[in-house]
Amino acid sequence: MKIAIIGQGYVGLTISAFAGEFFEVIGFDNNQKIVDQLNSGTSHIEGVESAVLQKWIKARRYKATTIGRDIADADLVVIAVPTPLTKDRKPDLTFIDAACKTIGENINKPVLVINESTSFPGTLRDYIKPAIEKYSTTVLEHLYAISPERVDPGRGDYNQKNTPRLYAGLTAEASEKTREFYSRFCDQLVEVSSPEVAEAAKLFENTFRQVNIALVNEFAQIAHSLGISVYETLDAANTKPYGFMKFTPSAGVGGHCIPVDPTYLAAVAEEHGVPATFIRRANDVNLEMSKYVVDRVQADNGGTLQGKSVLVVGVAYKPNVADVRETAAELVIEHLRNRGAVVTWHDDVVGSWRGESSAALSGADIAVVITKHDSVAEKAIVASARYVFDTTGKIKGVKGL
Ligand SMILES: NC(=O)c1ccc[n+]([C@@H]2O[C@H](COP(=O)([O-])OP(=O)(O)OC[C@H]3O[C@@H](n4cnc5c(N)ncnc54)[C@H](O)[C@@H]3O)[C@@H](O)[C@H]2O)c1
Repeated sequence: MKIAIIGQGYVGLTISAFAGEFFEVIGFDNNQKIVDQLNSGTSHIEGVESAVLQKWIKARRYKATTIGRDIADADLVVIAVPTPLTKDRKPDLTFIDAACKTIGENINKPVLVINESTSFPGTLRDYIKPAIEKYSTTVLEHLYAISPERVDPGRGDYNQKNTPRLYAGLTAEASEKTREFYSRFCDQLVEVSSPEVAEAAKLFENTFRQVNIALVNEFAQIAHSLGISVYETLDAANTKPYGFMKFTPSAGVGGHCIPVDPTYLAAVAEEHGVPATFIRRANDVNLEMSKYVVDRVQADNGGTLQGKSVLVVGVAYKPNVADVRETAAELVIEHLRNRGAVVTWHDDVVGSWRGESSAALSGADIAVVITKHDSVAEKAIVASARYVFDTTGKIKGVKGL
């Protein structure tokens, strides 16, 4: 069987690497640089080994391409393209639309189309199917299914194989074929009654995390104002063996999922006349954490940051990945610069970002830790500035926490 995977980023390349063991995979991506890199056997995604890619390339079971007609004779197509927000924070389905265009214009026989991109309930039925039919030059009866991706890049304990996978087809045949496909490389498949349930479950999973992170971020502020340790309090609460799940405070949430997906749910809720007050407020609380952190740093440093050198440590949105999408570091840096601080950042995993390079981990007046990669020594962070504020709660011996 020949599989076409549209989008070769975190999700698409991860699936390609697993699927290569059983199928011939065509990785379609519209970024020529990424495609060239992949065809040379180099992975750009944490968790996807270049050696695995090279193995499939050698066995002629993997090829990346930017050419639409290369997917023409695929038997199954997976969509794994970005689903971001527009400038006014509304669901942006333009990448999905472009993927549908590629499929519609190039696929020349009936296939199974599976969407793995995260989007609101109804996307498969009311958007993807009609869009592919609109772009198709001939009338083809494709099968359609959804299987939302749950991959957590950089995570070692859970992966494609042992993370249960939700799925649902628009028809029973689509569901059955989707099960057959994923059962090759996923241990546990969970069928739900409709694509809308699968789409909603994915959004709710990430909304659950978003609101709990917001709650603990708010609690961190309450605990500080009461003069008690948020970390000790959370550990104490976490001794309860049921009914509690520990989340930890931070400078805000980053990544492509948690700051974005809940807004997809809120938007569809509001379209149906349900005010998503809680989701909207959680998003605001998380966004406001960057200001709170900078307020605390300023208060601890004589009430002004004017002219002080501030080193932001860790600009990736989470440890051990180079992903900077929606990183809280961005807002923290903006607040610091607005208050006259001279800001540099250190993150050797990210290397370069927004035209700037990772600075040395030393010699600053103030260091603010946003993300702590395993490769960065705690001691080096503590020694990097005369005052260190740690938003991760992981570094011992710092003055601000
Ligand atoms: N990254 C995660 O941890 C994660 C987890 C679960 C779900 N998701 C969801 O999966 C989807 C993809 O996310 P991602 O993290 O893989 O994104 P990504 O940015 O890492 O990769 C997307 C890839 O798609 C390519 N692309 C964009 N438009 C295209 C088009 N029209 N045709 C072909 N290629 C195109 C881009 O060049 C890029 O390489 C999103 O909906 C996201 O919400 C992501």
